[in-house]
Amino acid sequence: MTSSSTNLSLVDTDPAELPVDAIVIGLHSQTGEQDATDGPAGTLLLASGAESIAAAFDGRLTETLALLGATGAPGEVIKLATLGTVTAPLVAAVGLGAEPTGAAPAPETLRRAAGAAVRSLAGAARVALTLPLPDDADAPAALRAVAEGALLGGYRFAGYRTRPQPSRREPVAEVLVAVPDAGDAGAQAEVTRAQAVAGAVRLTRDWVNTAPNEKRPPAFAEVVAEAARSAGLGVEVLDEAALAAGGYGGIVAVGQGSEAPPRLVKLTYTPEQGGSGKRVALVGKGITFDTGGISIKPSQGMWEMKSDMAGAAAVGATMLAVAALKPAVAVTGYLPMAENMPSGTSYRPGDVITMYNGKKVEVLNTDAEGRMILADAMARACEDGCDYLFETSTLTGGQVVSLGKRISGVMGTPELCERVRSAGDEVGEPAWPMPLPDDVRKGMDSDVADISQVNAGMDRAGHMLQGGTFLREFVTDEVAWAHIDIAGPSYHTGEPTGHLTKGGTGVPVRTLLALIEDIATHG
Ligand code: BES
Ligand code: MN
Ligand code: ZN
Repeated sequence: MTSSSTNLSLVDTDPAELPVDAIVIGLHSQTGEQDATDGPAGTLLLASGAESIAAAFDGRLTETLALLGATGAPGEVIKLATLGTVTAPLVAAVGLGAEPTGAAPAPETLRRAAGAAVRSLAGAARVALTLPLPDDADAPAALRAVAEGALLGGYRFAGYRTRPQPSRREPVAEVLVAVPDAGDAGAQAEVTRAQAVAGAVRLTRDWVNTAPNEKRPPAFAEVVAEAARSAGLGVEVLDEAALAAGGYGGIVAVGQGSEAPPRLVKLTYTPEQGGSGKRVALVGKGITFDTGGISIKPSQGMWEMKSDMAGAAAVGATMLAVAALKPAVAVTGYLPMAENMPSGTSYRPGDVITMYNGKKVEVLNTDAEGRMILADAMARACEDGCDYLFETSTLTGGQVVSLGKRISGVMGTPELCERVRSAGDEVGEPAWPMPLPDDVRKGMDSDVADISQVNAGMDRAGHMLQGGTFLREFVTDEVAWAHIDIAGPSYHTGEPTGHLTKGGTGVPVRTLLALIEDIATHG
């Protein structure tokens, strides 16, 4: 079940003459010094890019927008009929907040505004965006943000309805972005990149939003493997027999409670030319549904655990974008998949499991299943050889408690955690480094095995940190690694906002791609 796609191209003709269904312009709320003669409309300021539209309205556009209640607040979209003043029948003014002094809006402001505008224009087939783009060194980042925001705000999961809802308005099919020079090769390259990146984010959202009965491990593995083969990636799928024979104790243990057996999908991208010579490994948690197993979860809201494969979805889709973008660095993706179910064959609290790297783990709570499958995949990635290992997972409710729904928690090698934070900041997927303290590791000492899977006294103190502390045991010393806990940020539950739609968000695809590109260039 996949969403329809959105086309995006550049234009440099007069926006007032574009044959589209709606023109989007930017609107600033003005703060600070006001011109006393301006009146109420003086609190609004049209953003650059809107000049020819404003001219067509004979200078009465801000006044009209003010009458319609516009404030220029971020996320606000005010629509007005143009009644023949310009070719498009509709103008939509999207709020950009206060105008930054002497600068264009931040890329994230533009990304959210483009997302909000395209999302709220569902029902219009063709839309043009004339947002304020700087004409200096910041131009590529701004255009990238607008293109990504538009493509992501235009996302909608197709769903499973047998008949469309009567009120349903189709997502925008075609977006034109107004730029100074549509033929500019650099600008065209940004569009091509944004299409690959947003395509990966949209695919991640589709996979996360897919019903859990439709993506049990064998089916999910097949869908990912098929897409990867078409993209030209190397593909290896380990089934339950291969996993058992290979000693993947953690994946086998979690998978054994379900009639749908576990999988480990490995995707390989080999660059044509050397680049930095570094090898990147990506690992993503693919629990296709998390009931908790024998340590069963409360039924309230359990359906949301269909998103417990968001890490694997992000890694799989990132690999597809890598195949399209062709960075000069080797990247391998590992997607361990299992369905965590309670049954007569489930693993149980008290079990001691021999993991892929030989360590013995005492299971204390079958609901801490993510770290069991990830540990094996991370150990395999280290065995295959890598310099950087990025692992991402909907690992702990503790992440949501400590950092909320928008900021991912990052644990691992301090320098790499900082690099993840900085990449996340740059792309608008905030992430924050967290420590791995000795006392948390001490609390996971087991009476019978090398390590307990969680705190041995079931103490939830440092809940998120226990996850990172456990995973550290499965990374070899020479590998720089970062664990990115996306329990909250991977799934959006409230009303849509900016380019975020309800359900899967696609976090942290854009961070992973930024990191891979950075490693390709700088090592
Ligand atoms: N998949 C959950 C974590 C989760 C919680 C993701 C909320 C998204 C939203 C994970 O497998 C889990 O159950 N974690 C337990 C760990 C505990 C048993 C140590 C948790 O967070 O309570
Ligand atoms: Mn769980
Ligand atoms: Zn889980």
